[in-house]
Amino acid sequence: MKPRTTRNLASLLLAANLDPREGRDLLSHVLKKPTSYLIAHPETTLTPVQAKNFTALATKRRRGVPYAYLTGHQGFYGLDFFVTNNVLIPRPETEQLVDWVLGRVKKTEAATIVDVGTGSGCIAVTLARYLPKAHVIASDLSEKALVVAKKNARANGVSKRIAFRRGSLLACVKASENFDLVVANLPYLTKAQLKNVPHEPKLALHGGTRGLALIEKLITQIIGHGIASAILEIDPAQKPWLTAIGDRIHGYRYEFLSDLAGRTRFFILKEN
Ligand SMILES: C[S@@+](CC[C@H](N)C(=O)[O-])C[C@H]1O[C@@H](n2cnc3c(N)ncnc32)[C@H](O)[C@@H]1O
Repeated sequence: MKPRTTRNLASLLLAANLDPREGRDLLSHVLKKPTSYLIAHPETTLTPVQAKNFTALATKRRRGVPYAYLTGHQGFYGLDFFVTNNVLIPRPETEQLVDWVLGRVKKTEAATIVDVGTGSGCIAVTLARYLPKAHVIASDLSEKALVVAKKNARANGVSKRIAFRRGSLLACVKASENFDLVVANLPYLTKAQLKNVPHEPKLALHGGTRGLALIEKLITQIIGHGIASAILEIDPAQKPWLTAIGDRIHGYRYEFLSDLAGRTRFFILKEN
């Protein structure tokens, strides 16, 4: 029998066996048409190549590959971010970190901000977009992540106000450079927690035995550098250890901020 050269939307969606909304969004991605078009034109057929692409993506999705890695896009704070499997997919919790900064830094302020462990650049790019006078340094240990972050800075028209530097934590910052604020969503998962996120890079996730190895080091560097304030994303379970660390710090006060689900999610440090 001659193979069918095209497939219709309904039969492809049925065979894909995906969450209906994800299936429809994936079709819209493959066809490069808005979902509203597909809803209005259910008679649309796919070419054999499009049908093959869709079926391959649907198979990956059923195997658990995150949706954002299949389409190469993730929304964050109202902006579109290009993502690859070399970067963490931006999370909604992290939008609250951005919110905290935007609630404190004025649009007219020429603030200097360091985003440590920038990944896709979601924090650095969003801050640069919404704070038109700010200057940002975005650092990461991963060269591949920096390639993605630079692409996102270009796409959002903020390349000129973000300096990308490769290095560990604040090692890429000179002692003579002054900054108002450090923001960071560093790897903070323990080895046991890693199995829950099998598709994203370990370098973006693993924070040592208690998940705090990098966060603890960064706090020491922030204080050593005399940076006035910092907001760091953390795991809720780390609150007791960070309380003990915070209590030992001189010249700074600290507080915790919860995420929208009420879980302790951010450690905030301010110079006295
Ligand atoms: C949890 S991801 C966060 C990415 C991004 N900031 C976000 O919120 O989506 C952590 C990032 O830190 C980077 N990283 C890991 N170890 C680092 C280190 N020692 N110094 C700087 N960056 C590091 C990883 O490559 C990864 O991009």
